[in-house]
Amino acid sequence: MPTRTIIEPFRIKSVEPIHWTRREDRERFLREAHYNLFLLPADDVLIDLLSDSGTGAMSTYQWGAIQEGDESYAGSRSYIRFRDSVQSIFGYKHVIPTHQGRAAERILFSTMVKPGDVVPNNTHFDTTRANVEAVGAEALDLVIAEGRRPGLIHPFKGNMDVAALDETIARIGQRRIPLVMLTVTNNSGGGQPVSMENARQVSQLCRRHGIPLYFDACRFAENSYFIKLREPGYREKTPKQIAQEMFSLGDGCTMSAKKDGLANIGGFLCTNDDVLAQQEENLLILTEGFPTYGGLAGRDLEAVAVGLQEACDEDYLRYRIASTAYLGNHLSERGIPIVLPVGGHAVYLDARAFVPHIPIEQFPGVALAAELYLEGGIRSSEIGTLMFGKAAKMDMVRLAIPRRTYTQSHIDFVIEVVLEAWKNRDRVRGLRLTYEPPFLRHFTARLEPV
Ligand SMILES: Cc1ncc(COP(=O)(O)O)c(C=O)c1O
Repeated sequence: MPTRTIIEPFRIKSVEPIHWTRREDRERFLREAHYNLFLLPADDVLIDLLSDSGTGAMSTYQWGAIQEGDESYAGSRSYIRFRDSVQSIFGYKHVIPTHQGRAAERILFSTMVKPGDVVPNNTHFDTTRANVEAVGAEALDLVIAEGRRPGLIHPFKGNMDVAALDETIARIGQRRIPLVMLTVTNNSGGGQPVSMENARQVSQLCRRHGIPLYFDACRFAENSYFIKLREPGYREKTPKQIAQEMFSLGDGCTMSAKKDGLANIGGFLCTNDDVLAQQEENLLILTEGFPTYGGLAGRDLEAVAVGLQEACDEDYLRYRIASTAYLGNHLSERGIPIVLPVGGHAVYLDARAFVPHIPIEQFPGVALAAELYLEGGIRSSEIGTLMFGKAAKMDMVRLAIPRRTYTQSHIDFVIEVVLEAWKNRDRVRGLRLTYEPPFLRHFTARLEPV
Protein backbone atom coordinates (compact mmCIF):
# COMPACT_ATOMS: atom_id res chain seq x y z
CA MET A 1 0.00 0.00 0.00
CA PRO A 2 1.55 3.35 -1.00
CA THR A 3 1.43 5.73 1.99
CA ARG A 4 2.10 9.44 2.30
CA THR A 5 3.03 9.54 5.96
CA ILE A 6 6.70 9.16 6.74
CA ILE A 7 6.92 7.59 10.19
CA GLU A 8 9.68 7.49 12.79
CA PRO A 9 11.66 4.34 11.86
CA PHE A 10 11.91 3.22 15.50
CA ARG A 11 9.80 2.59 18.56
CA ILE A 12 10.55 4.02 21.99
CA LYS A 13 12.02 1.79 24.68
CA SER A 14 13.13 4.28 27.30
CA VAL A 15 11.66 7.71 28.07
CA GLU A 16 12.95 10.85 29.76
CA PRO A 17 10.32 13.13 31.39
CA ILE A 18 10.32 16.82 30.45
CA HIS A 19 9.09 19.65 32.63
CA TRP A 20 6.53 22.42 32.22
CA THR A 21 7.23 25.79 33.81
CA ARG A 22 5.06 28.89 34.27
CA ARG A 23 5.62 32.02 32.24
CA GLU A 24 6.37 34.13 35.33
CA ASP A 25 9.01 31.59 36.37
CA ARG A 26 10.53 31.63 32.88
CA GLU A 27 10.79 35.43 33.09
CA ARG A 28 12.86 35.00 36.25
CA PHE A 29 14.94 32.13 34.84
CA LEU A 30 15.73 34.24 31.80
CA ARG A 31 16.83 37.20 33.94
CA GLU A 32 18.98 34.89 36.07
CA ALA A 33 20.54 33.45 32.89
CA HIS A 34 21.34 37.00 31.70
CA TYR A 35 19.20 36.46 28.58
CA ASN A 36 21.70 33.87 27.31
CA LEU A 37 19.95 30.51 26.85
CA PHE A 38 23.27 28.65 27.20
CA LEU A 39 23.21 29.73 30.86
CA LEU A 40 19.80 28.15 31.63
CA PRO A 41 19.58 24.92 33.64
CA ALA A 42 18.27 22.29 31.18
CA ASP A 43 15.54 21.28 33.65
CA ASP A 44 13.92 24.68 33.13
CA VAL A 45 13.53 23.94 29.40
CA LEU A 46 10.53 22.08 27.97
CA ILE A 47 11.73 21.36 24.42
CA ASP A 48 15.45 21.73 23.94
CA LEU A 49 16.42 22.74 20.41
CA LEU A 50 19.64 24.46 21.49
CA SER A 51 21.77 21.97 19.60
CA ASP A 52 21.66 18.72 17.66
CA SER A 53 25.15 17.97 18.98
CA GLY A 54 25.36 14.97 21.29
CA THR A 55 21.69 15.38 22.20
CA GLY A 56 20.21 12.53 20.18
CA ALA A 57 18.91 9.13 21.27
CA MET A 58 21.11 6.09 20.81
CA SER A 59 19.78 2.82 19.44
CA THR A 60 19.56 -0.54 21.19
CA TYR A 61 22.48 -1.64 18.99
CA GLN A 62 24.59 1.24 20.25
CA TRP A 63 23.72 0.53 23.89
CA GLY A 64 24.51 -3.14 23.26
CA ALA A 65 27.89 -2.23 21.75
CA ILE A 66 28.63 0.00 24.76
CA GLN A 67 28.56 -3.11 26.95
CA GLU A 68 31.33 -4.52 24.77
CA GLY A 69 33.63 -1.53 25.22
CA ASP A 70 37.24 -2.57 25.67
CA GLU A 71 38.82 -0.11 28.09
CA SER A 72 42.43 -1.20 27.50
CA TYR A 73 44.76 1.78 27.58
CA ALA A 74 46.46 0.80 24.30
CA GLY A 75 45.41 -1.28 21.31
CA SER A 76 41.78 -1.54 22.42
CA ARG A 77 39.56 -3.79 20.31
CA SER A 78 36.98 -0.96 20.42
CA TYR A 79 39.45 1.31 18.60
CA ILE A 80 39.84 -1.30 15.84
CA ARG A 81 36.05 -1.40 15.38
CA PHE A 82 35.90 2.39 15.45
CA ARG A 83 38.72 2.75 12.91
CA ASP A 84 37.21 0.13 10.59
CA SER A 85 33.78 1.77 10.75
CA VAL A 86 35.26 5.21 10.01
CA GLN A 87 37.41 3.88 7.16
CA SER A 88 34.48 2.04 5.56
CA ILE A 89 32.82 5.42 4.97
CA PHE A 90 35.61 7.99 4.89
CA GLY A 91 38.40 5.90 3.37
CA TYR A 92 41.31 7.85 4.88
CA LYS A 93 44.51 6.14 5.94
CA HIS A 94 44.90 7.55 9.45
CA VAL A 95 41.99 7.74 11.92
CA ILE A 96 42.75 9.73 15.06
CA PRO A 97 40.03 9.65 17.73
CA THR A 98 39.27 12.85 19.67
CA HIS A 99 36.78 13.69 22.40
CA GLN A 100 34.78 15.89 19.99
CA GLY A 101 35.03 17.91 16.80
CA ARG A 102 36.85 20.96 18.14
CA ALA A 103 39.70 18.84 19.49
CA ALA A 104 40.21 17.50 15.96
CA GLU A 105 40.15 21.08 14.67
CA ARG A 106 42.68 22.31 17.22
CA ILE A 107 45.09 19.49 16.40
CA LEU A 108 44.64 19.94 12.64
CA PHE A 109 45.17 23.71 12.66
CA SER A 110 48.02 23.62 15.20
CA THR A 111 49.80 21.18 12.90
CA MET A 112 49.11 22.67 9.47
CA VAL A 113 48.47 26.39 9.96
CA LYS A 114 50.79 29.23 11.01
CA PRO A 115 50.23 32.92 11.82
CA GLY A 116 49.38 34.98 8.73
CA ASP A 117 47.89 32.00 6.83
CA VAL A 118 44.38 32.00 5.39
CA VAL A 119 41.95 29.07 5.64
CA PRO A 120 39.01 29.27 3.18
CA ASN A 121 35.81 27.32 3.92
CA ASN A 122 32.28 27.53 2.55
CA THR A 123 31.37 28.81 6.05
CA HIS A 124 33.44 28.17 9.16
CA PHE A 125 31.43 27.06 12.15
CA ASP A 126 32.09 28.91 15.42
CA THR A 127 34.66 26.48 16.81
CA THR A 128 36.40 26.11 13.44
CA ARG A 129 36.70 29.86 13.02
CA ALA A 130 37.92 30.26 16.62
CA ASN A 131 40.52 27.51 16.25
CA VAL A 132 41.85 29.00 12.99
CA GLU A 133 42.04 32.43 14.63
CA ALA A 134 43.66 30.95 17.76
CA VAL A 135 46.75 30.03 15.71
CA GLY A 136 46.91 33.57 14.29
CA ALA A 137 45.42 32.80 10.87
CA GLU A 138 42.42 34.21 9.02
CA ALA A 139 39.21 32.17 8.62
CA LEU A 140 37.66 33.11 5.27
CA ASP A 141 34.04 32.29 4.33
CA LEU A 142 33.46 31.79 0.61
CA VAL A 143 29.95 30.36 0.33
CA ILE A 144 28.10 31.13 -2.93
CA ALA A 145 26.09 34.38 -2.97
CA GLU A 146 22.79 32.42 -2.95
CA GLY A 147 23.85 30.94 0.41
CA ARG A 148 23.66 34.38 2.01
CA ARG A 149 20.07 35.09 1.00
CA PRO A 150 17.74 33.39 3.50
CA GLY A 151 14.57 33.25 1.42
CA LEU A 152 16.15 32.22 -1.88
CA ILE A 153 15.56 28.65 -3.04
CA HIS A 154 18.63 26.79 -4.38
CA PRO A 155 19.30 23.05 -4.06
CA PHE A 156 22.87 23.41 -2.78
CA LYS A 157 23.15 26.68 -0.88
CA GLY A 158 26.16 25.31 1.01
CA ASN A 159 28.32 25.30 -2.13
CA MET A 160 31.68 27.03 -2.15
CA ASP A 161 32.08 29.95 -4.56
CA VAL A 162 34.74 28.29 -6.73
CA ALA A 163 35.56 31.47 -8.68
CA ALA A 164 36.10 33.35 -5.39
CA LEU A 165 38.34 30.54 -4.15
CA ASP A 166 40.34 30.66 -7.39
CA GLU A 167 40.67 34.43 -7.08
CA THR A 168 41.71 34.10 -3.40
CA ILE A 169 44.44 31.61 -4.26
CA ALA A 170 45.70 33.92 -7.05
CA ARG A 171 45.66 36.96 -4.74
CA ILE A 172 47.10 35.46 -1.57
CA GLY A 173 49.29 32.76 -3.08
CA GLN A 174 49.18 29.02 -2.49
CA ARG A 175 51.95 29.23 0.16
CA ARG A 176 49.71 31.09 2.62
CA ILE A 177 46.79 28.70 2.17
CA PRO A 178 47.80 25.53 4.03
CA LEU A 179 44.41 23.87 3.47
CA VAL A 180 40.90 24.49 2.19
CA MET A 181 37.87 23.22 4.10
CA LEU A 182 34.37 22.26 3.00
CA THR A 183 31.70 21.98 5.69
CA VAL A 184 29.02 19.38 4.89
CA THR A 185 26.30 20.36 5.53
CA ASN A 186 26.98 24.05 6.01
CA ASN A 187 25.79 24.61 9.59
CA SER A 188 26.35 28.37 9.92
CA GLY A 189 24.83 28.85 6.47
CA GLY A 190 21.51 27.25 7.44
CA GLY A 191 22.34 23.51 7.39
CA GLN A 192 22.51 23.66 3.61
CA PRO A 193 24.12 20.88 1.55
CA VAL A 194 27.13 20.96 -0.77
CA SER A 195 26.77 19.20 -4.13
CA MET A 196 29.15 16.52 -5.36
CA GLU A 197 29.82 18.65 -8.43
CA ASN A 198 30.89 21.56 -6.23
CA ALA A 199 33.09 19.33 -4.05
CA ARG A 200 34.68 17.97 -7.24
CA GLN A 201 35.40 21.45 -8.58
CA VAL A 202 36.88 22.57 -5.25
CA SER A 203 38.97 19.39 -5.13
CA GLN A 204 40.28 19.89 -8.68
CA LEU A 205 41.20 23.50 -7.95
CA CYS A 206 42.97 22.52 -4.72
CA ARG A 207 44.86 19.69 -6.43
CA ARG A 208 45.94 22.01 -9.26
CA HIS A 209 47.55 24.28 -6.66
CA GLY A 210 48.81 21.50 -4.38
CA ILE A 211 46.55 22.62 -1.49
CA PRO A 212 45.07 19.86 0.69
CA LEU A 213 41.26 19.71 0.94
CA TYR A 214 39.71 18.75 4.29
CA PHE A 215 36.04 18.16 4.99
CA ASP A 216 34.31 19.32 8.16
CA ALA A 217 32.20 16.20 8.01
CA CYS A 218 29.83 16.57 11.01
CA ARG A 219 26.65 16.09 8.98
CA PHE A 220 28.02 14.04 6.08
CA ALA A 221 25.08 11.57 6.05
CA GLU A 222 22.45 14.31 5.77
CA ASN A 223 24.52 15.94 3.03
CA SER A 224 24.73 12.61 1.17
CA TYR A 225 20.98 12.17 1.36
CA PHE A 226 20.39 15.65 -0.09
CA ILE A 227 22.70 14.73 -2.97
CA LYS A 228 20.69 11.55 -3.53
CA LEU A 229 17.44 13.57 -3.60
CA ARG A 230 18.63 16.58 -5.57
CA GLU A 231 21.68 15.90 -7.73
CA PRO A 232 21.34 14.18 -11.12
CA GLY A 233 23.02 10.78 -11.27
CA TYR A 234 22.80 9.88 -7.57
CA ARG A 235 19.26 8.58 -7.11
CA GLU A 236 20.32 4.93 -7.34
CA LYS A 237 23.33 5.30 -5.05
CA THR A 238 23.20 4.64 -1.31
CA PRO A 239 24.04 7.50 1.09
CA LYS A 240 27.15 5.55 2.10
CA GLN A 241 28.35 5.26 -1.50
CA ILE A 242 27.77 8.97 -1.96
CA ALA A 243 29.74 9.74 1.20
CA GLN A 244 32.58 7.49 0.04
CA GLU A 245 32.72 9.31 -3.29
CA MET A 246 32.74 12.72 -1.63
CA PHE A 247 35.51 11.90 0.83
CA SER A 248 37.65 10.42 -1.97
CA LEU A 249 37.86 14.00 -3.28
CA GLY A 250 39.69 15.18 -0.14
CA ASP A 251 42.85 14.54 1.83
CA GLY A 252 41.28 14.25 5.27
CA CYS A 253 38.51 15.44 7.55
CA THR A 254 37.51 16.61 10.99
CA MET A 255 34.40 15.10 12.50
CA SER A 256 32.17 15.63 15.49
CA ALA A 257 30.56 12.24 16.06
CA LYS A 258 27.98 14.06 18.20
CA LYS A 259 26.10 14.78 14.97
CA ASP A 260 26.04 12.11 12.26
CA GLY A 261 27.96 9.71 14.52
CA LEU A 262 24.68 9.48 16.47
CA ALA A 263 26.69 9.46 19.70
CA ASN A 264 26.60 11.66 22.79
CA ILE A 265 30.33 12.33 22.66
CA GLY A 266 33.23 11.68 20.28
CA GLY A 267 34.99 12.84 17.17
CA PHE A 268 37.96 12.16 14.94
CA LEU A 269 40.56 13.60 12.64
CA CYS A 270 41.53 11.78 9.46
CA THR A 271 44.39 12.28 7.04
CA ASN A 272 46.15 10.41 4.25
CA ASP A 273 49.46 12.13 5.07
CA ASP A 274 51.86 9.91 7.09
CA VAL A 275 54.07 12.78 8.30
CA LEU A 276 51.14 14.94 9.41
CA ALA A 277 49.48 11.98 11.12
CA GLN A 278 52.59 11.43 13.21
CA GLN A 279 52.70 15.09 14.29
CA GLU A 280 48.97 15.03 15.02
CA GLU A 281 49.26 11.89 17.12
CA ASN A 282 52.08 13.48 19.10
CA LEU A 283 49.84 16.45 19.90
CA LEU A 284 46.98 14.08 20.68
CA ILE A 285 49.11 12.28 23.25
CA LEU A 286 49.99 15.63 24.83
CA THR A 287 46.42 16.77 25.45
CA GLU A 288 43.80 14.13 24.52
CA GLY A 289 45.22 10.68 25.12
CA PHE A 290 46.87 7.68 23.50
CA PRO A 291 46.12 7.33 19.74
CA THR A 292 43.83 4.33 20.24
CA TYR A 293 41.40 6.22 22.47
CA GLY A 294 42.06 9.98 22.09
CA GLY A 295 40.09 11.16 25.12
CA LEU A 296 37.23 8.67 24.70
CA ALA A 297 36.27 5.60 26.68
CA GLY A 298 36.28 2.32 24.76
CA ARG A 299 32.48 2.27 25.10
CA ASP A 300 32.25 5.67 23.39
CA LEU A 301 34.30 4.36 20.47
CA GLU A 302 31.83 1.47 20.17
CA ALA A 303 28.82 3.82 20.15
CA VAL A 304 30.37 5.88 17.36
CA ALA A 305 31.37 2.79 15.35
CA VAL A 306 27.72 1.65 15.28
CA GLY A 307 26.23 5.16 15.03
CA LEU A 308 28.14 6.11 11.87
CA GLN A 309 26.65 3.15 10.03
CA GLU A 310 23.13 3.82 11.36
CA ALA A 311 23.38 7.45 10.22
CA CYS A 312 23.78 6.19 6.64
CA ASP A 313 20.59 4.13 6.81
CA GLU A 314 18.09 5.34 4.23
CA ASP A 315 14.97 4.86 6.37
CA TYR A 316 16.58 6.93 9.09
CA LEU A 317 17.68 9.69 6.68
CA ARG A 318 14.29 9.84 4.94
CA TYR A 319 12.62 10.38 8.34
CA ARG A 320 15.32 12.79 9.48
CA ILE A 321 15.12 15.10 6.48
CA ALA A 322 11.30 14.85 6.29
CA SER A 323 10.78 15.68 9.96
CA THR A 324 13.00 18.76 9.79
CA ALA A 325 11.18 19.85 6.63
CA TYR A 326 7.82 19.28 8.40
CA LEU A 327 8.68 21.96 10.97
CA GLY A 328 10.15 24.35 8.41
CA ASN A 329 7.40 24.00 5.84
CA HIS A 330 4.61 24.50 8.40
CA LEU A 331 6.26 27.72 9.55
CA SER A 332 7.03 28.96 6.05
CA GLU A 333 3.48 28.29 4.81
CA ARG A 334 2.20 30.56 7.58
CA GLY A 335 4.47 33.39 6.53
CA ILE A 336 7.27 32.95 9.08
CA PRO A 337 10.59 34.05 7.51
CA ILE A 338 12.97 31.09 7.54
CA VAL A 339 16.03 29.99 5.60
CA LEU A 340 14.79 28.12 2.52
CA PRO A 341 14.91 25.39 1.49
CA VAL A 342 14.85 23.74 4.92
CA GLY A 343 18.24 22.32 5.92
CA GLY A 344 19.07 18.90 7.31
CA HIS A 345 19.37 19.23 11.06
CA ALA A 346 17.60 22.48 11.88
CA VAL A 347 15.15 25.16 10.90
CA TYR A 348 16.63 28.66 10.89
CA LEU A 349 14.34 31.60 11.59
CA ASP A 350 15.45 34.78 9.84
CA ALA A 351 15.55 37.06 12.87
CA ARG A 352 16.30 40.23 10.88
CA ALA A 353 12.99 39.72 9.04
CA PHE A 354 11.09 38.39 12.09
CA VAL A 355 11.89 41.37 14.34
CA PRO A 356 12.99 44.08 11.88
CA HIS A 357 12.50 46.81 14.51
CA ILE A 358 15.54 45.50 16.46
CA PRO A 359 18.84 46.91 15.13
CA ILE A 360 21.58 44.37 14.38
CA GLU A 361 23.74 45.79 17.23
CA GLN A 362 20.93 44.81 19.62
CA PHE A 363 21.16 41.11 18.69
CA PRO A 364 17.78 40.36 17.04
CA GLY A 365 18.53 36.62 17.04
CA VAL A 366 19.24 36.50 20.77
CA ALA A 367 16.14 38.59 21.48
CA LEU A 368 13.94 36.29 19.40
CA ALA A 369 15.41 33.15 21.00
CA ALA A 370 14.61 34.64 24.43
CA GLU A 371 11.02 35.32 23.29
CA LEU A 372 10.53 31.67 22.18
CA TYR A 373 11.69 30.56 25.62
CA LEU A 374 9.32 32.97 27.35
CA GLU A 375 6.44 31.96 25.12
CA GLY A 376 6.73 28.17 25.40
CA GLY A 377 9.86 27.04 27.24
CA ILE A 378 11.62 26.28 23.96
CA ARG A 379 15.38 26.67 23.89
CA SER A 380 17.04 27.58 20.58
CA SER A 381 20.31 29.26 19.66
CA GLU A 382 21.32 32.41 17.90
CA ILE A 383 23.58 32.11 14.87
CA GLY A 384 24.38 35.69 14.09
CA THR A 385 25.94 38.82 15.51
CA LEU A 386 26.50 37.52 19.04
CA MET A 387 28.18 34.38 17.68
CA PHE A 388 30.22 35.90 14.85
CA GLY A 389 30.39 39.67 15.53
CA LYS A 390 30.92 41.68 12.35
CA ALA A 391 31.58 38.49 10.31
CA ALA A 392 27.85 37.63 10.63
CA LYS A 393 26.10 37.91 7.27
CA MET A 394 22.70 36.96 8.72
CA ASP A 395 21.01 36.88 12.12
CA MET A 396 19.23 33.60 12.63
CA VAL A 397 17.59 31.59 15.37
CA ARG A 398 18.41 27.93 14.91
CA LEU A 399 15.84 25.37 15.98
CA ALA A 400 18.18 22.36 15.96
CA ILE A 401 16.45 18.99 16.02
CA PRO A 402 18.13 16.35 18.20
CA ARG A 403 18.26 13.02 16.35
CA ARG A 404 15.52 10.42 17.07
CA THR A 405 14.46 12.35 20.18
CA TYR A 406 11.26 14.36 19.71
CA THR A 407 8.00 13.18 18.16
CA GLN A 408 5.71 14.93 15.72
CA SER A 409 3.49 16.28 18.53
CA HIS A 410 6.51 17.95 20.13
CA ILE A 411 7.16 19.61 16.80
CA ASP A 412 3.50 20.64 16.46
CA PHE A 413 3.86 22.33 19.84
CA VAL A 414 6.98 24.17 18.63
CA ILE A 415 5.05 25.39 15.57
CA GLU A 416 2.31 26.77 17.84
CA VAL A 417 4.84 28.60 20.00
CA VAL A 418 6.64 30.18 17.04
CA LEU A 419 3.29 31.32 15.58
CA GLU A 420 2.38 32.91 18.92
CA ALA A 421 5.74 34.72 19.03
CA TRP A 422 5.13 35.90 15.44
CA LYS A 423 1.77 37.35 16.50
CA ASN A 424 3.44 39.23 19.34
CA ARG A 425 6.69 40.08 17.55
CA ASP A 426 6.32 43.85 17.98
CA ARG A 427 6.82 43.53 21.73
CA VAL A 428 10.23 41.79 21.44
CA ARG A 429 12.97 44.11 22.68
CA GLY A 430 16.65 44.33 21.75
CA LEU A 431 19.48 43.41 24.11
CA ARG A 432 22.86 44.84 25.04
CA LEU A 433 25.96 43.11 26.36
CA THR A 434 26.94 43.46 30.01
CA TYR A 435 29.81 40.94 29.80
CA GLU A 436 31.68 39.23 26.98
CA PRO A 437 34.57 36.75 27.16
CA PRO A 438 37.55 37.12 24.78
CA PHE A 439 36.50 34.37 22.32
CA LEU A 440 33.43 32.22 21.49
CA ARG A 441 31.51 34.88 23.37
CA HIS A 442 28.02 33.53 22.69
CA PHE A 443 28.52 30.62 25.10
CA THR A 444 28.97 32.74 28.23
CA ALA A 445 28.06 36.34 27.31
CA ARG A 446 25.61 38.18 29.56
CA LEU A 447 22.98 40.56 28.26
CA GLU A 448 20.13 42.79 29.43
CA PRO A 449 17.14 44.38 27.68
CA VAL A 450 17.80 47.78 26.10
C1 LIG B 1 29.96 22.35 11.29
C2 LIG B 1 30.54 22.08 12.65
N1 LIG B 1 31.86 21.94 12.79
C3 LIG B 1 32.41 21.69 13.99
C4 LIG B 1 31.67 21.57 15.14
C5 LIG B 1 32.35 21.31 16.46
O1 LIG B 1 32.07 20.06 16.99
P1 LIG B 1 32.07 19.81 18.57
O2 LIG B 1 30.93 20.56 19.14
O3 LIG B 1 31.93 18.33 18.71
O4 LIG B 1 33.37 20.29 19.10
C6 LIG B 1 30.28 21.72 15.04
C7 LIG B 1 29.46 21.61 16.27
O5 LIG B 1 28.34 22.04 16.36
C8 LIG B 1 29.70 21.98 13.77
O6 LIG B 1 28.38 22.11 13.62
